[in-house]
Amino acid sequence: MVTENTAKRSVLLIVTGSIAATKVPELIRLLKDKAMDVTAVLTEAGGYFISPLTLASLTGKRVYSELFSIDEETEMGHIQLSRKSDLIVVAPATANTIAKMAQGISDDLASTILLATDKPVLVVPAMNVRMWEHPATQRNVQTLRKDGVVFVGPSKGALACGEEGHGRMVEPSEIVDEIQRFYDFKKLGRPLQGKKALVTSGPTVEAIDPVRYIANRSSGKQGHAIAAALKALGADVTLVSGPTALPDPVGVKMVKVESAREMLDACYKALPVDMAVCAAAVSDWRSSNLSEQKIKKPAKKSMKPEDMLTFTFMENPDILECLGKHGDKRPQLVVGFAAETENVVKNAKAKMQRKGCDWILANDVSGGSVFGSEDTEIHYITVDGEEHWPLMSKRDVAFTLASRMSDYFSIDPKLRKNNVTKLLL
Ligand code: CTP
Repeated sequence: MVTENTAKRSVLLIVTGSIAATKVPELIRLLKDKAMDVTAVLTEAGGYFISPLTLASLTGKRVYSELFSIDEETEMGHIQLSRKSDLIVVAPATANTIAKMAQGISDDLASTILLATDKPVLVVPAMNVRMWEHPATQRNVQTLRKDGVVFVGPSKGALACGEEGHGRMVEPSEIVDEIQRFYDFKKLGRPLQGKKALVTSGPTVEAIDPVRYIANRSSGKQGHAIAAALKALGADVTLVSGPTALPDPVGVKMVKVESAREMLDACYKALPVDMAVCAAAVSDWRSSNLSEQKIKKPAKKSMKPEDMLTFTFMENPDILECLGKHGDKRPQLVVGFAAETENVVKNAKAKMQRKGCDWILANDVSGGSVFGSEDTEIHYITVDGEEHWPLMSKRDVAFTLASRMSDYFSIDPKLRKNNVTKLLL
């Protein structure tokens, strides 16, 4: 597990004007428990929800609020504040603060720090659901995501204003997890710099006629998180994804596809790569008689078997197997997933052999609970054996896998063990 030299970790926490500011003391307490150094900046609106004295007592430090205060500027000016910490966390972040950040407005200390910083920024939104869903806010969020700002939440639920929906600030423990992840990545550095990675993600959709298709419940969360993690470790990443509702991970080359055959074509086009991770839930079948016209309902109702509508399907290509058994362009490391409902490890090992991949991450999907959820439990299987990763977030799975992949590439190529070597012996 990654450990960190805790003494050096310092977070600049910007608190803006939302009722969720009442959760900030808990956030500071959790950060201090992890021996993180916290400096607080409070906006004028934030001061209506939490007092500077509370923040000062909890952080054990002076709280900064004013842009034009001789006192504050001489002690620690806004430029120093924007550069001195490892990370800036805006929690809670109002729609107004997000809008100012997206537009580059700097009319108070908080927004000036955010414009002047060269440090990573994590934004934790908190607002009314209509404000969050407003096209203007969504545009601003998109702009900031493209700039590399990381968003945590908001979550869905009952809001302080009495309405329901997205807008709740996520719990302090989730914010701390995200901050911890930032330090975990920082500790590893960019070991995959100069390496190329290919990741598949999401479902595939297979047309039946011009308006209908078959698909599955994959959200793409796992594959997208893996692409983002490999990118964070320095790899040059191509993410080939079926339709999902997720934002494109920043800095990866995105290829959007629909069917399994389009996904395979896109993967072949991305070769050669050093590593491939197949996390997509590829549809195993496609219609064998794709109708060019919309299939109409029968004119008269009938319960006779010969009058019933029957679809026939044919098998799709297996993308993982095509990559795992690719001749000259086989990636050095090919990783697959195995969704199993019984005999999880045994079936996954057989799948690993059958598809010629080097590692397989198996999960139990009985009950359908993995699809769309945030957390998953993994059996990590390699030629050396098996390891159980307890229930963790898909982003933590992505981080753990990416760090294992970087370990693999740090070993002398002659000493690397993989499935293909074993199959050839
Ligand atoms: N996979 C793929 N192309 C397919 C089917 C699966 O690339 N046509 C990949 C998935 O991305 C995953 C792995 O193969 O990495 C295993 O997928 P899974 O759904 O568990 O297995 P299947 O091959 O579909 O086998 P089965 O349904 O019999 O368990």
